[in-house]
Amino acid sequence: MKLAVVGGGSTYTPELIDGFARLRDELPVSEIALIDPDPVRLELVAGVSRRMLAHARHPARVLATSSVAEGVAGAQVVLFQLRVGGQAARDLDETLPLRCGCVGQETTGAGGLAKALRTVPVVLRIAETVREHAPDAWIVDFTNPVGIVTRALLDAGHRAIGLCNVAIGFQRRFAAWLGADPARVSLGHVGLNHLTWERAVYLDGRDVLPALLAEHGQEIADSLGLRLGLLRRLGVVPSYYLRYFYAHDAVVREQRSKPSRAAEVAEMETRLLELYADPSVVEKPELLSQRGGAFYSEAAVALIASLLGDRGDTQVVNVRNAGTLPFLGDEAVIEVPATVGAGGAVPLPVAPVEPLYAGLIANVSAYETLALDAARQGGADRVRDALLAHPLVGQDELAEELTGLLLEAGRERLPWT
Ligand code: G6P
Ligand code: MN
Repeated sequence: MKLAVVGGGSTYTPELIDGFARLRDELPVSEIALIDPDPVRLELVAGVSRRMLAHARHPARVLATSSVAEGVAGAQVVLFQLRVGGQAARDLDETLPLRCGCVGQETTGAGGLAKALRTVPVVLRIAETVREHAPDAWIVDFTNPVGIVTRALLDAGHRAIGLCNVAIGFQRRFAAWLGADPARVSLGHVGLNHLTWERAVYLDGRDVLPALLAEHGQEIADSLGLRLGLLRRLGVVPSYYLRYFYAHDAVVREQRSKPSRAAEVAEMETRLLELYADPSVVEKPELLSQRGGAFYSEAAVALIASLLGDRGDTQVVNVRNAGTLPFLGDEAVIEVPATVGAGGAVPLPVAPVEPLYAGLIANVSAYETLALDAARQGGADRVRDALLAHPLVGQDELAEELTGLLLEAGRERLPWT
């Protein structure tokens, strides 16, 4: 099976390679095409990837190319994991909103919009090349903001599914606490990408979330940066992205007092690339575990194995709502457990969503609709409307100021400015 990775020069790629090597029985891969416009990174990452596979005695070949057409030809699956503008552009997403007192985050709020604006056109262009050279391939999208990017791909008629590691991260952590094989643990996960809540945790079909909260509540609250009292009262586990909503002002204060995550990651990337250049490095470096991508290779392998092997199991993915959440349009993209088989992912029914969550989901989903309009069609007014619709912006003057900042900063990357 040939698999292509767009953004293959990412420092994250060895995480994927490690997963393919460890999980070879689940998913036999014979060729991995790494596609990236940056020849230096591509060579370093392809080098370490080849050494890792050889070290694990994995037979897969690694092809490194800057050509999407060449890389995807013959692939059954194409992973999108690109970051338009790299950490430099991310740094602006994380710092510009702070000037206006808004959270600086690459997928949430104004930063997420900036990322969507520059990313959607690039992704759509690449997806056209996939359609031309690998018309039957599945696109698995890790590219953020995953909800908006997946919707853009689906609207354009691509065979795409969006994926994130938040759900699998919770599943693995809960399974470890329960002393159970992760396969026995499933989640009552609901919301939009990076805006989700675990309303239940099933061990062999029985909800054990109340017991987990009773026993590990403080640890969970600390890891999310939220108060235990909130978790106890709600009886759910929000994703750590909910902290940008539930503790917005505290996050802004913190962010103003320290370097951006982009700056931190840029430093890590320099060190990672040095390691990848070292011929004695034949395994995934420990340093990679400081990135946010834990378990993303497991999530990718499981999804691809189910798509290609028609397994019909349940996985948390980003799919069309199609009536699942009755308060959203059918065309919205949601992140919920779905049955995954050769025909794609079909969301499982979701119990009625409490107003506390449904309100925010509906609000952010409406923002996503407007953000996608702005990304596809351009125009300062569309950007302003998307910002006005976002619950973390919402005010006219803020939207106006942020529009100016985003357009100025994004000038060279936004085709319509
Ligand atoms: C998590 C999120 C990803 C995000 C990543 C950032 O994995 O689910 O969507 O890209 O964190 O990690 P980083 O190490 O780049 O801050
Ligand atoms: Mn994610």
